[in-house]
Amino acid sequence: MRIDTNKLAAYYADAPADVSLADLDLARMPSHVSIIMDGNGRWAEARGLDRSRGHVAGVDALREAVTTSVRLGLDAFSVYAFSTENWRRPQREVDLLMHLFATTLVKELPLFHQENVRLRFLGDLTALPERTRKVFQQGLDETADHTGMTFALAVNYGARAEIVRAARMIAEEVAAGRLAPADVDEELVGDRLYTAGLPDPDLLIRTSGELRLSNYLLWQLAYTEFYVTDTLWPDFDRWDYLRAVVAFQRRSRRFGGVSGA
Ligand code: FPP
Repeated sequence: MRIDTNKLAAYYADAPADVSLADLDLARMPSHVSIIMDGNGRWAEARGLDRSRGHVAGVDALREAVTTSVRLGLDAFSVYAFSTENWRRPQREVDLLMHLFATTLVKELPLFHQENVRLRFLGDLTALPERTRKVFQQGLDETADHTGMTFALAVNYGARAEIVRAARMIAEEVAAGRLAPADVDEELVGDRLYTAGLPDPDLLIRTSGELRLSNYLLWQLAYTEFYVTDTLWPDFDRWDYLRAVVAFQRRSRRFGGVSGA
């Protein structure tokens, strides 16, 4: 995707001491960045606030991250918003998150239109409340013709469930005689995942310092570079994002081969 360098420079004015736009190599930009947004609860608790306030603050951080992703010219940006395990949280918190997903999506539609962002969901949406599902569908319909960055929201997503679902689809196709076992290869499996058609993430960012994958994109992250920051998600801003991309660009990606080969 093309970068609007004027918009990017304006967006990244007033640099802090440790990082600036000059550190970025525009010829080596990632195509897809994914983020595990973690630390909303701790952010709120550190301020003596209810956890819900952390999620509300997390929405602001997410809005900025979407804009940053567009300014950086990404093809795809994805975030882990709600896992299949998150249903175990207190009902009040689950309800608030479902409500936030729906209200935020409606509120942010003008941003998606303005920035030509196409929306997509990763996960099993059938288990979501009716209103959340309706709003998600509205978001899909209204952004279907957009040709800019894809923004993928993982909601009720679990990577193992995603792989089981793909395996079942393939088994059914084989049983029906539409596929032969020998047809099953990596591309065919990838086409049956929620991320079908998206490039694999080049960079995975996890906030709040945890060093685990939490059942996120297990298949798609095979060769992804990981970047973990102690910053809690509501505090994650365009400069933290820039630090992550600059760190990514300084690594040598070999995809199992050797450098320079
Ligand atoms: C992790 O923090 C965050 C979540 C489980 C929810 C992510 C939701 C948002 C960023 C807000 C709304 C998003 C959208 C898409 C509108 P945590 O609660 O696990 O924090 P903790 O580890 O400190 O408890």
